[in-house]
Formats: sequence, structure tokens, C-alpha cells
Amino acid sequence: MARSAIINVMVQAAMKAGRSLARDFGEVQNLQVSLKGPGDYVSQADRKAEEIIYTELKRARPGYSFLMEERGVVEGEDAQHRWIVDPLDGTTNFLHGIPIFAVSIGLERQGQLVAGVIYNPAMDELYTAERGGGAFLNDRRLRVAARSRLYDCVIGTGIPHLGRGDHGRALIDLRNVMGETAGIRRMGAAALDLAYVAAGRIDGFWEDALSPWDMAAGLLMIREAGGFATDRTGGQNIFDSGTVVAGNEAIHKALLAALKKPATGR
Ligand code: IPD
Ligand code: CA
Ligand code: CA
Repeated sequence: MARSAIINVMVQAAMKAGRSLARDFGEVQNLQVSLKGPGDYVSQADRKAEEIIYTELKRARPGYSFLMEERGVVEGEDAQHRWIVDPLDGTTNFLHGIPIFAVSIGLERQGQLVAGVIYNPAMDELYTAERGGGAFLNDRRLRVAARSRLYDCVIGTGIPHLGRGDHGRALIDLRNVMGETAGIRRMGAAALDLAYVAAGRIDGFWEDALSPWDMAAGLLMIREAGGFATDRTGGQNIFDSGTVVAGNEAIHKALLAALKKPATGR
């Protein structure tokens, strides 16, 4: 499969950071048995991965701007282009030795997502998408799942935890959606959840309180795989609202409806 120059740049950065994360992940697995756990080690692994991505992208496209989870905003001379980077999505999984984590790099041109790369080094799965060029898992072209009834579907979500998010809202949503589906999954890495929707592994996904770096690459992947992704009102205010609802046309619509339902007693 021939990749464009910009996707090659992103793939190189993501895979280099991914290799660094994979080495650190091996060490994290050893540290599980220590009482203190691998917390500090993981923060270092995260920052190291971000540094690698920053260096690689900056070298390839010196003027572009950045929005990175750890480093924050870096204004470049070229304000038209912005990299949106999560060096390690799925930190809690990584910390606990669960091999579901990824590097996520999105690229915006004039505020529009034009390229995305997500790499899970533990499974050596590389997801790429370019606006108008389709989405791929390694060399395989992706298409969202075709199921049209929620009760046949496996739906992904994110569940807030200690100190994060609206727990009451999350419980209402979960109750409303779980009663209508074949199963709910909480994978623990939003970038991969979105990639899994693009790959048809899960039929849909919703989550609140996400950040642009969790979603940028994955949103493009879903659209390029023929899917729909909006905020929870059905609009495109995804980054500002931090909410996302995704799936094929029918499942996206059904999920939006389920998420609008009031709390039920059963
Ligand atoms: C988190 C993961 C998780 C989601 C959280 C995110 P991080 O990102 O994507 O699945 O539920 O809201 O913050 O902290 O591992 O980069
Ligand atoms: Ca993240
Ligand atoms: Ca992160």
C-alpha cells in the first residue's frame, strides 16, 4: 500500500515512540510486583514518547503548530497546520500491564482533520487515515460494521473514575444503553475505541469528558471508514464539548436517541 508523504512522517513518529513505549511496557510488567508500583516510571515513559514524537514531527515539518497532552500548545510559524498528539493513550492500562494502549497523532489543516495515525505497539497494529483516502489497519482498508439494530451490537464506552467526570450521568447512560445492546466494552483507551469502531470491531462508541488528543486521529478514521461521529447533541462541537458518539449511520442515530433518554428505574 502506497502511503502519502505526510502519513509516512506520522507513521515514523508514532512507531518510534511506540517502540520506546513497548520497551518501557516490558519493564512496567516487572514492576507490578513492587509495592510502590511503576507510577513514576510510567510518567517518564509517557514524556519520553512525547519527546520522540515532537522531535520527529518538528524535524519533518518545522513550522507546524502543536497541541500535545503533556507539553500543551506550541505555536509554530504555520498556524494553518496543527498536530494533535496523545503520546500514550490508555495510561491506566499501561500502568497495570494491560496491552491496550496507543500513540495517537492527528493533523488539522485550517481547523479540519486531514490525517490520523494510531499505533498500538503491544499488538503491532497501525491505523492510518487521510481525508478522502480511506482508513487502514496495517494494509487492510477499513469499513465500519454494518449492523443496523442496537440489540445486535457491541458498544464501547468510557467510564469515569475517582476524581473524574459526572458519575451520575455516566450511570444513567450506561443503564439506558446496556439494556438495548448485545454487550458493552470499556477498553480504557479512547483512541483505540475510535479505531475499533472504524475497524468494525465494535459497532459504536460514546464517551464524555474527552480531550482533543484522545479523539483527533480516531474521528478521522471513523469518517474515512464510512462512519459517523458527533458530539452527544448530534453536532460537530466535539472538541469543545469533550463528548463523542460514533457508529455507522443507524447505530450512531440509535445511540444518540438512547443517550437522550431520562433515567429509568429498571
Ligand atoms: C484516557 C483514556 C481513557 C478515557 C479517559 C482518557 P489517557 O486517556 O483514553 O480510555 O476514558 O477519559 O483520559 O489518560 O490514558 O491518555
Ligand atoms: Ca488519552
Ligand atoms: Ca495520554
